[in-house]
Amino acid sequence: MTAVLTHLLSARDLDRSQAVAVLDTAAHMAETQSREIKKLPTLRGRTVVNLFYEDSTRTRISFETAAKRLSADVLSFAPKGSSVSKGESLKDTVLTLGAMGADAIVIRHQASGAAHLLAHSGWTEARIINAGDGLHQHPTQALLDAFTLRRHRAHAKGMEGDGLGSDLEGARVVIVGDVLHSRVARANVDLLTTLGAEVTLVAPPTLLPVGVETWSARTTYSLDEAIEETDPDAVMMLRVQLERMSRAGGGFFPSHAEYQREYGLDTKRLGRMRPDALVMHPGPMNRGLEITSAAADGQRSVVVEQVANGVAVRMAVLYLVLTGAEGGPS
Ligand code: CP
Repeated sequence: MTAVLTHLLSARDLDRSQAVAVLDTAAHMAETQSREIKKLPTLRGRTVVNLFYEDSTRTRISFETAAKRLSADVLSFAPKGSSVSKGESLKDTVLTLGAMGADAIVIRHQASGAAHLLAHSGWTEARIINAGDGLHQHPTQALLDAFTLRRHRAHAKGMEGDGLGSDLEGARVVIVGDVLHSRVARANVDLLTTLGAEVTLVAPPTLLPVGVETWSARTTYSLDEAIEETDPDAVMMLRVQLERMSRAGGGFFPSHAEYQREYGLDTKRLGRMRPDALVMHPGPMNRGLEITSAAADGQRSVVVEQVANGVAVRMAVLYLVLTGAEGGPS
């Protein structure tokens, strides 16, 4: 029996059977997206509000696409041009949106814990989905990454479909770069290890958070060593979050050239990886810094596929959260 998803606040909230159920539901959703008519009537009459206080291309547009493909009404809110610029609080904004009948609120916010606050505030009855909160979590990114990995593993093993029912037991994933500022890294460590994968984090000491030794991942400062020792199934490059670094006064690494040399994924490092190892990046990418164009656009790159899978995964999350279903759809 799989527990029903009330909200989706953190990848840590999912146990293995729930995570597999979301991935299975996403696989069913992905199948519907290869049809000529992509739209399903599943969420007709429901309203999904996208409440994005931070910039986004992929997450915002794919949640919007996912909700529309399920026939929900979608309201997209951005603080710029709204009464937030007049000082309206998160509480009053949410009360206002609730009065317009929001069934689900998809929130991205610069404050870690914003999604949790909304879910437990009593300000709204709406289901809350975390689309990225501060440095904390980005659960749907981790789910789409796991979905992408599982699908490739299933194809490599000659399994039927997209690996329905399977986890990631024994998969080896190396996550590289700005772990300190990365909610993607935190969510991925939680979800991948829940699914049975072995995760290695690679970063300079200045880009590892205090307490990283308590995470369920191995840590090293050397990308070359990680590739050689781990023989990874996938290398996930993290965006160097230059905007957060400059707000903190900079000084996290000596120069872009040195970062690229020590931690960038380039053709030379690709050559030391297995030919079937995947190159992943959540986007947006700093081409020429954490990843070269040759690696980003090469045959092993699944960066664009990750974006496409994001729609199916977000359809699954909206469906499960809004209908109370345990898996499916039937
Ligand atoms: N991966 C990700 O969250 O991208 P966006 O910031 O464009 O949504």
